[in-house]
Parts: sequence; structure tokens; C-alpha cells
Amino acid sequence: MANKSEVIQLLKTAYSMELETVCNYLANSINLDGVRAEEIKKSLAADITEELMHAQQLAQRIKQLGGLVPGSASVTFGNQRQPSDNTTDVVAVIEAVIEAEEAACAHYNKIIKATDGQDYVTQDLCIRLLASEEEHLVLFRGYLKEYSG
Ligand SMILES: [Fe+2]
Ligand SMILES: [Fe+2]
Repeated sequence: MANKSEVIQLLKTAYSMELETVCNYLANSINLDGVRAEEIKKSLAADITEELMHAQQLAQRIKQLGGLVPGSASVTFGNQRQPSDNTTDVVAVIEAVIEAEEAACAHYNKIIKATDGQDYVTQDLCIRLLASEEEHLVLFRGYLKEYSG
């Protein structure tokens, strides 16, 4: 079980992860070329808004717990697979999304466990975020089946 400052720290990590997702989905939704990429680009473009909303919800909870939302110098990036120079490699993008979504699910599961029995509001938020990331994961695993087949 985590104390309040540990929960805030876990939420800040989640916040960074969401913003890094926004950054990479944004890049991939523009960078990709070709007919095969069109559906993936659309799907990613739609996800950007959702991931940004996740960041907003996390930021609100950080503030409610007495923390401050980090600025750009304190956000940590660089943990996700970077957009490829090969702009027709749709499979690499799908795999990168799956990795990012798996990492998000793992982190939300960690917060859900850490807040159990003591911070139900944070736990409830993270359960909802986990549900959203699991949906993304299933969607992109489906794409991988189609695109790598
Ligand atoms: Fe997210
Ligand atoms: Fe997601």
C-alpha cells in the first residue's frame, strides 16, 4: 500500500506516459504513408484526444491530492518505441502502440493495487483508465493480426 505522496508520484508517472503516447501517436498518425496506413492513421488520430483526456483526468487527481501537475521539464519521455524512419512500416507502428498500451495497463494495475483499501477515488479513476487502455490494446492486437498476416 502506498502513502499519499507515493500515489501522487505514481500518478505523475502515468501522466508522463499519457503525454508521451500523445506525442508518438501524433507523430505516427502523420508520418505513415500508403494505402495500408490509412485506417491506422485514422485510428491513431482518434486516440490522441482520448489519451490527452486521460492526462487531464490524472492531472486533476494529482491536484486534488495536493500535488502539482509537472511542466515540460519534469515530464519524463523516452520510454516508448520511437516513430520509425520507414514511413510504410505499419506493423512497426502497430507493435509500438501495443507496447505502449501494455505498459499503460501494467502501470494502472500497479496503481489500482497500491491504492486498494485506502484511496478509492484514485483507484476508480485508474480502473476506468485501465478499461480504456485494454480497449485500445484489443483494437491494435486485432490490427496486428490483419497487417502481419
Ligand atoms: Fe491513455
Ligand atoms: Fe491508450
